Parts: sequence; structure tokens; C-alpha cells
Amino acid sequence: MTTSYYIFPDQVYFGFGVARRVGPELRAEGLQHAFIIADPGVVAAGLVEPVIASLTSAGLAHTLYDQVVPNPSCESVDAAADAYRAGGADCIVGIGGGSGLDTAKAVRLVVAGPPEGRVAEYAYRLGDRARPHPPRHRLPFYAAIPTTAGTGAEVTPWAVITDQRDKLKFGVGGPHSVPSMALVDPELTLGLPSFLTAATGMDALTHCIEAYVSTNENTALDPMILYGIKLIGRSLPVAVAKPSNRPARSDMAQAAMIGGIAISSKWLGACHSLAHQLSSFANVQHGLANAIMLPHVMRFNLPGAMSRYARINDALGGSPDGAVRQRAENAVRLVEQLIGDVGLPARLRDVGVSEAMIEPMAKAAYTLDLNWWTNPREVSEQVMATLYRQAF
Ligand SMILES: [Fe+2]
Repeated sequence: MTTSYYIFPDQVYFGFGVARRVGPELRAEGLQHAFIIADPGVVAAGLVEPVIASLTSAGLAHTLYDQVVPNPSCESVDAAADAYRAGGADCIVGIGGGSGLDTAKAVRLVVAGPPEGRVAEYAYRLGDRARPHPPRHRLPFYAAIPTTAGTGAEVTPWAVITDQRDKLKFGVGGPHSVPSMALVDPELTLGLPSFLTAATGMDALTHCIEAYVSTNENTALDPMILYGIKLIGRSLPVAVAKPSNRPARSDMAQAAMIGGIAISSKWLGACHSLAHQLSSFANVQHGLANAIMLPHVMRFNLPGAMSRYARINDALGGSPDGAVRQRAENAVRLVEQLIGDVGLPARLRDVGVSEAMIEPMAKAAYTLDLNWWTNPREVSEQVMATLYRQAF
């Protein structure tokens, strides 16, 4: 028997309107001053106002920090941590997509450490040379409120930060860094435009699929992950076609949360290693990068997880009759159809990637990105290059 290791979320509220619980919940925790971290787009969309109203009516003070940048940089996290320290807050509220929630998660880590600590010093890639993770009791309470249905960052332990000098993404966090509370409110996603709905939804699907076929078995999660895949298969096209469809938005918010829970314990695979380089080298949106690579990685992986891909076919609504291999191959076709149905491009050449980028991206995906470790089939730098070429 192998040993399984699970990281589950802390408290989660799910449903339309739950974002407005934030004030009373923080009050019940004995907190007095919230440091709100959001990006300017989320503020402009009016999503922060009801949160501030909830805090104010519960008697909490707040400081709004709205300088979050896409693909958060070391400098942006360190600046936000300095602002937190200067502002006298005793808890953090993060509102946003992956960038906002990851900035907040990283700030929470940095402010729990010594004042001279910088986010880059906590990077996993430093191994033994990394600054030790601060003890759990020093981390301020963190309420995470997602505004997209994709990353699942509201329930995961890690934040992804970009080092602007070498254009590399690195991870920080650990089991203690799971947000103290997630308020998953599908209402906040009703205004999300079709492209972002499609791209972030494909990120959630990639999380579910990579986790389901991961070499980290953690089988207790399997039924939930298949349910997440089912929700996405039936509701992502609807949410893209009709953004105001509340049941579809609810399904997608739930599926994104399931994807986050899934990767916290089962991790990811080669698709994310490949996708991260597409963002670093060619600025491709993270979910779109996954969407383009996913069918190619699935087809490559089939021999390593045939029966699992067959069950993904069933979850996506494919026929459950027929040989395992047929169903597994059909799972790839269903994912390709879904990408077409939600209007995303399918080729790297159509999203600003040049052929000259393939070799350096393949090298980075294999030598610098850890996510392929749990891929169900062995990869190499050559395999990474072949997968990029197939997607080109
Ligand atoms: Fe992702």
C-alpha cells in the first residue's frame, strides 16, 4: 500500500450571495480591520463594493489595496506586503481571479515572516535554501472570494508568482497556506465575458483531468473529481453561450472549487508544465494555454491511464458502452469538441507563439517546471517539444 497525503480546504461557504457574509464571519472571528486585495478590474466591475458594505455594517475597518497585476510579480507581492504592515490590518480579504487570490495568499505568507523577508525567498525552487515557512499561528486570517470559475485558488495551498528578471513562474505556500475561509459566490461570475468564462473554465477542466489521472492516487477524491468533470461538460458551453445563466454559473463555480481541492492533494501533470511556458514566453492566458495543450497531452498519456480516461469519457457524457480504449480515445475527442463549442482557438500559431519558441519552451517545461512529476506517462524534453509541435 502506498501512503496518501491529502490537503483539504478550511471553511467554505458556497452559493449565490455568500460573499456578503464576509463581514459577520470576520467579526465572529474577533477581527477588526480587513486588508482587501483586489485588481483594478475587479474594483471597476463593482465587485468590491458589496464586500466593503458587509465589512462596514459588521463594524470592521478596511484598507483597499487595488494594485494587483496579472501574473503577480515579486515586486507587486512585496509592495502589497509592505502596505499590509503599514496599514494596521489584522486579516486579509482577497477578491479576484487567480492573480488577486494568489497575491493575497503570498502576502499572507510574507507578512507572517520577519519584516526583511521577500516573497522570492520562499520559493519551492530554492529547496533547502528557501526561507522557512512561517508557523501556522502567525498567518493572518484570509478570506478568499473568487470572481472567476477556473483556478480554484480559493481552496489551494499555493500561489504562483512570476520572477520578471528570468520570466519564470515559481510557487510559494504550503499546507498552512490554504485560505482560512472561501466564499464561493457564483453571483460574482455573472458578468464574466465569454472568452474569460471559456478560458478559466478550461483551466478548471484541466485541473480535474490532470488530477484524476495523476500518479498521486488519493482515490477518496475520485468520485468528486468525476463529478467536477461532469459539471463542466454540461455547463461550460451554456455559461459561455448565456453568461447570465445562473445554474450554469453555479455548476462552474462548484467545478472550479472541486478542481482546486483535487490538485491540492493529487497535483497536476505535463499539461500545466507546458502551459506555464506559453504564458511566460508568449503571454498566452493560462486557461487558454491549457485548453490548447490538453487534447495533445491526453492522447500522449492514454497508455498510462487508459481506464481512467475511459471514465472521463463517461463523465463528459460519452457512451459508457464499448471497449475501454474506445472510450478513452473518445474522451480526447469530447474535450476537443468542448474547446470548439466554447470558441477557443486550438493551435499555438493562432495565439502568438512562434516556431522558434518551441525548443526553449520545451527545455523550460522539462527542466524548470515541477508539474509533470505526477504525469501518468514519463516525459522528456523531446516529448515536450513534440507536444508543442503537435499543437502548433
Ligand atoms: Fe491551472
